[in-house]
Amino acid sequence: MKIVLISGSARPKRQSHKIAMETFNRLRSMETIQPSLLDVRENALPLLESIYRTHPAPTDTMHHWKKELDQADAFLLVSPEHNGSYSGALKNSLDYFFEEYSGKPMGIITVSAGALGGINAAMALQHFCLKVGGYLMPAFLITPKVQTLFDEDGNLMDESYSKRLDKFLLQFIEFSQKFS
Ligand SMILES: Cc1cc2nc3c(=O)[nH]c(=O)nc-3n(C[C@H](O)[C@H](O)[C@H](O)COP(=O)(O)O)c2cc1C
Repeated sequence: MKIVLISGSARPKRQSHKIAMETFNRLRSMETIQPSLLDVRENALPLLESIYRTHPAPTDTMHHWKKELDQADAFLLVSPEHNGSYSGALKNSLDYFFEEYSGKPMGIITVSAGALGGINAAMALQHFCLKVGGYLMPAFLITPKVQTLFDEDGNLMDESYSKRLDKFLLQFIEFSQKFS
């Protein structure tokens, strides 16, 4: 199963990308999963003037997103909470596409500096997933106080979060398999 992970913060000092990479590495270690990463910073799309389908001159990065989204069996969105929602950069990137998400499983991981783990971003992303016709997994994973979870070398140190992440990923894979 190919799971496309979308990392949703474009900030140079972003913390949520650490969670995206941790998730990516865990998925990569699973025999039956081929993860790939779309990163709103590394695979940056310009401010939307036209969606991909009607774009007069799609760039290589736009083609790359399209190819990855088409090949995906399932999507995992990893978003920071920025002012009570998911990031503007993530919304801008996601909005280039529509039918590409339709009929495919979607899961949500949110990340915040505060104690609520990005729950407002998760709620807003749920609306997005349903709007584009994704098969949204009702359970999502929140990540409170992300700045306390990793050591200086980027290793995840929090045992309790680590277990929650594993449990969430297994749940998401089981959910996604129902649609394959
Ligand atoms: C513009 C902006 C708005 C933010 N708003 C919130 C917020 O509403 N709630 C919260 O807990 N943290 C908020 N934060 C902190 C982020 O959740 C924190 O930076 C976290 O690491 C995830 O975002 P990042 O991946 O961009 O680092 C905000 C950060 C930025 C840059």
